Formats: sequence, C-alpha cells, structure tokens
Amino acid sequence: MNEIKIFSPATVANVSCGFDVLGFCLDSIGDEMVIRKTLEKGVKISKIEGADLPYETNKNVAGVAALAILEASNANFGVEIEIYKKIKPGSGIGSSSASASGVVFAINELLGKPFNKEQLTLFGMKGEAVASGVEHADNVAPGIFGGFTLVKSVNPLRIIGLPTPTELYATVIHPKIEIKTSEARAILPKQVNLSDAIKQWANVGSLVSGLYTSDYDLIADSLNDYIIEPFRSQLIPHFDKVKNAMMNAGALGCGISGSGPSIFSLSKGLGTANKVAKEINKIYSKTGIEFDIHVSKINTEGVRIVNSE
Ligand code: HSE
Repeated sequence: MNEIKIFSPATVANVSCGFDVLGFCLDSIGDEMVIRKTLEKGVKISKIEGADLPYETNKNVAGVAALAILEASNANFGVEIEIYKKIKPGSGIGSSSASASGVVFAINELLGKPFNKEQLTLFGMKGEAVASGVEHADNVAPGIFGGFTLVKSVNPLRIIGLPTPTELYATVIHPKIEIKTSEARAILPKQVNLSDAIKQWANVGSLVSGLYTSDYDLIADSLNDYIIEPFRSQLIPHFDKVKNAMMNAGALGCGISGSGPSIFSLSKGLGTANKVAKEINKIYSKTGIEFDIHVSKINTEGVRIVNSE
C-alpha cells in the first residue's frame, strides 16, 4: 500500500460524568485525510483545506503524531499528508484529535499494522498535546477504538473499550464560537467537593453498567455532571435553554461536549434524536449565533479507510 484515504470521525469527550476519562465516537461528521508514502524520510503536510492550520510539521497535530509513529517504527519511508478538515478547531467535538487519530491509523496501515490500538492512541496523544497542552486520551481513544471508551489511566496508558447499545443516537449542536480547551481547563477548580465527587463517580460506574446491559433508564440516570458543567456552562451562550429543550424532547441526557462550546445529547432511537435536533434548532435560530447540528449513530468502528492503492 502506497497511499491511503481515511475518514476520521468527530468524538465527544467527558460524556457528562466522565471528565477526562470517557468518550464516544460520532459517525456523521469527520475529517478526511490522504497519506502517501514518500521516498524521502520525514513528514510533509502538503495540503490543508477547511481550516487555517500550520503547515510546519512540528506545529501541526497530524505532523507531530505522524513523526511519533514513524520514529517508533523505524520506517524506511516518509509521508506526505493532505488534510480536509470538516471539524472546526475549537468546536469541542475533537477536531485536533481527529487529525491525530486519523494520521496514526493511516500510517499504521501503510506500515502493515505493526501497532495495536492502545499504541496508536499513545502516538495520537503526542499530536493532541500540541493543540491542548496536555496529553489527554478521551478524544483520541474513541476515534481509534470506536464506540465508547474509558481511559483507565494515562501513564501507563490503559484504554478499555465499552459496548454501545444499538438504539443509542447522539444529537450535537455546535454554536460557532471558539472555546480553547486550555482556557476551559483554566477556569476549573483545583479541588472538588467530596459529596459532588461521590455522586460523580457513582454516575461513571452506573453509566458503564448501563452501556453493558443496554439499560437506557440507567444511562439516562447517569448522565449528570456535578463538577465541571457548573463552571464551563457559563462559557456557552443559551446552554440552559438548549439543555431544557433537549430533555423536553425526550433525550436520555445531555451535557457539554469535551470542553465546549458544542452540547451533546444521547437519545434512544433515531426519531427522538431528530426531534431533539428540531427543538434545539428552534432555540438557536433565534440567537443570531451561527450553528451546526449533527444527528449521528454511535460509530463503533472509529477511523475507517475510504480507499487505498
Ligand atoms: N477532557 C478534555 C476536557 C477534553 O474536557 O478538557 C477536551 O476536548
């Protein structure tokens, strides 16, 4: 294989109760990338469409992730990368991690698949750190593994893939304002209240149980965030109105996607997910803020090959 085109999906990190540990993978939105072998070693970004991102390899998320996997493999070739961005940077649905997950998945294919998904996540995190300043895996892991993932630990990296109940659908609204992850992290408290922490880790446990048993009521009862949302929701215009509309339309639960500004909900069935989309469209149409809405099944595959030669 000399060239590969891949689809690298958007992802929702945190999933309300699981700050920095839970994430899931979307299907209806993602970037495309073409990665081509070159005789010359090293990494060259030859094309970027859809976003204003740096071409310098060391400053580009995909460039840094590509270097990490190529160096670890002692590859006898280099790569040229074309990036077609559909996920806007700063949207809260894993824009930088899609670049990182996509490129490491693709290069692993070009190498003949020497690395497993956990190793690919580790390379992807090197790229992700360029954008967010921290090596967190809760967007990269669902992109690589697909479905829902739990980051058991970052050092050493341990990712646990979780099951996806078949009737689960996501609705995501992306208000087109930019929130930098570093800024959304800077406003968080350094210490948390014990009674809030108890509720939060009980919800992580019950959400995982709900995913294993396809218990939609338990999933609904677990999608609450007592620790992060009270701070970050203030950065998102009309957050409470959107949340109320999502719940009134029948969503199981909702919350901030990653570090925002996107807001996600999970619903049982596509019909309800579409109804949620309709109701939040009504709300945001009146605000004067541009927005996108995505309704998506949960993508259980993660990054996928579009074609190769
Ligand atoms: N867990 C990270 C955060 C995800 O919420 O800061 C950032 O996309």
